[in-house]
Amino acid sequence: MCGIVGYIGTQTATEILVSGLERLAYRGYDSAGVATISEGKLNCIRAKGKLHNLREKLERDVTHAQIGIGHTRWATHGKPEEHNAHPHLDSNTKIAVVQNGIVENYRELREELKNKGVEFRSETDTEVIPHLISQYLTDSTLTFLDAVQKTISRLEGAFAIAVINADNPYELIVARQQAPITLGFGQGEFFCASDVTALLPHTRAVLSLENGEIARMSPLGVEIYTFTGQRVSRFPRTLDWNPGQVEKQGFRHYMLKEIHEQPGVVRSSLETYLNPNWHADENPDFSPINLGLSSQLYDNIDYIQIVACGTSWHAGLIGKYLLEQLAGIPTTIDYASEYRYSPKPVIPHTLTIGVTQSGETADTIAALEMEQARRSKLESKFQAQLLAITNRPESTIGQLCNHIINTQAGIEIGVAATKTFIAQVLGFYYLALDLAYHRKTLSNERLTEIIDGLRHIPDSIEKTLETQDHAIEELAHEFTQETEDFIFIGRGINFPIALEGALKLKEISYIHAEAYPAGEMKHGPIALLDHKVPVVAVAMPGSVYEKVISNAQEAKARDARLIGVTSAMNVQEAAHTFNDVLTVPEVEELLSPILAVIPLQLLSYHIAVIKGLDVDQPRNLAKSVTVE
Ligand code: M6R
Repeated sequence: MCGIVGYIGTQTATEILVSGLERLAYRGYDSAGVATISEGKLNCIRAKGKLHNLREKLERDVTHAQIGIGHTRWATHGKPEEHNAHPHLDSNTKIAVVQNGIVENYRELREELKNKGVEFRSETDTEVIPHLISQYLTDSTLTFLDAVQKTISRLEGAFAIAVINADNPYELIVARQQAPITLGFGQGEFFCASDVTALLPHTRAVLSLENGEIARMSPLGVEIYTFTGQRVSRFPRTLDWNPGQVEKQGFRHYMLKEIHEQPGVVRSSLETYLNPNWHADENPDFSPINLGLSSQLYDNIDYIQIVACGTSWHAGLIGKYLLEQLAGIPTTIDYASEYRYSPKPVIPHTLTIGVTQSGETADTIAALEMEQARRSKLESKFQAQLLAITNRPESTIGQLCNHIINTQAGIEIGVAATKTFIAQVLGFYYLALDLAYHRKTLSNERLTEIIDGLRHIPDSIEKTLETQDHAIEELAHEFTQETEDFIFIGRGINFPIALEGALKLKEISYIHAEAYPAGEMKHGPIALLDHKVPVVAVAMPGSVYEKVISNAQEAKARDARLIGVTSAMNVQEAAHTFNDVLTVPEVEELLSPILAVIPLQLLSYHIAVIKGLDVDQPRNLAKSVTVE
């Protein structure tokens, strides 16, 4: 949600800033801008819309500045217009600020500044920052760093900022208050960015600022202080990522590339977490799953609560099913945005799980922080045990939680989550199986059966992609003109897949879609059905298969066009019920969600592509939702 880039060094800043913004465009793409300093003058160029508009403007206005900041915006306060685009400047055009987050008390600060004669040029919350810095510099003998520090002490909310000042052309100041910002260390040059993806082409030596830290970057080095002025000594770490991970690699869209990466992601996750030496018939006294979590954690769980948002919430819903059905542990799941304002009663021996692909979702982070804070004053059995399920262990959630399952999905660029979802779901399988082993709720034979099934999943995803992609593309043509609504139904472990199919369709094709547990249709939503509303039923063979089929028949009787997702073994029978059948290889019901979601990802992808929509950067969305 909004991307920040900053550079100070010996190269020309503008190209580094703009290419960094291109790598952060998934965070927001309403408008963009850069500010640089050359020959003591601040130069700020901004443009509404996508980054190519900014690039065009910059080509007409070349500077060779060696310091600058850039921003790609996801609008919160003020419409996506050029005058609201960042950077924002003070009245003397000396100070430029980019911000990611929200300054909650901006209205009163704005009034205060207006009373002092400041004229505002935007409707944003951010513009108060350069004006305040400017006032502190004018009214006192504060250094640039001190003026920024003093300004921050006036700001409420969660934000990260980068600031430059034409009167201090060798300093770039960066600060973090609950919104992510990472510093990059090169040879005689330094960078900052909201996400390491922007830093990868330049350096792998990175350091994430912690909450309440401010950094002064100069061509000579980086100094970090707390907001109260104490010097902090911290060292960069080296990322083992390569820039190729964030390229399209010949695919038309990142989303398609990420859908096709799923077999590889599952393979690498299985290699990481399945214990190859475990054989049920040898009655081993160690778990088939190798999560590396402390045994103390396992001895002390009576209750599990999961918090997440969006697609990660859907993964958590599958997690709840698995933790209850396999490990027998009562589990609840909440939207993080709700939980933070209506938490559950404090129960002893609780494990709290946060699920997030970005590792930065403000609501999820806040829910976990709240949980930690409210338990910290209680006796030991109530203390927070926080587990993160994420592909970004280096992110804020990774720093916050005492246990992490790294889902091995790597970075995902397409705004619609695909490979990270599958990887999160696998994280829950591992946790549930590991807990089941420790609690002896499953026999070794049953554990072996499930694990063998998991080992077949990568090949089955590959097969699904090979056999279904073209057929689904053909089918997609039928829903691009007049279809305005879709209904998705599923039951049991596949109800979350219906939810996920509907969310994917809404997000990238802008077709209204709702998902219901199939048995709930007759309690109201069935009134929506007619020949214009296609119904997608996730009908995987297993305990609720017949039920889903009969719910689907009820929809058919109301003239709905029925699309079924089922097993290839079942195709002939399914053809009696469904107008269109999307198949996946045979799989046991317990593991079926991992396959059933693939055709639904492809369906939403192809509908969006045929409609000519921006699949990777759908309107109004951002990949990393770092505001409340
Ligand atoms: O980064 P997170 O997993 O915490 O993000 C949560 C949601 O914002 C996210 O899943 C969103 O719903 C995606 N765009 C889904 O495709």
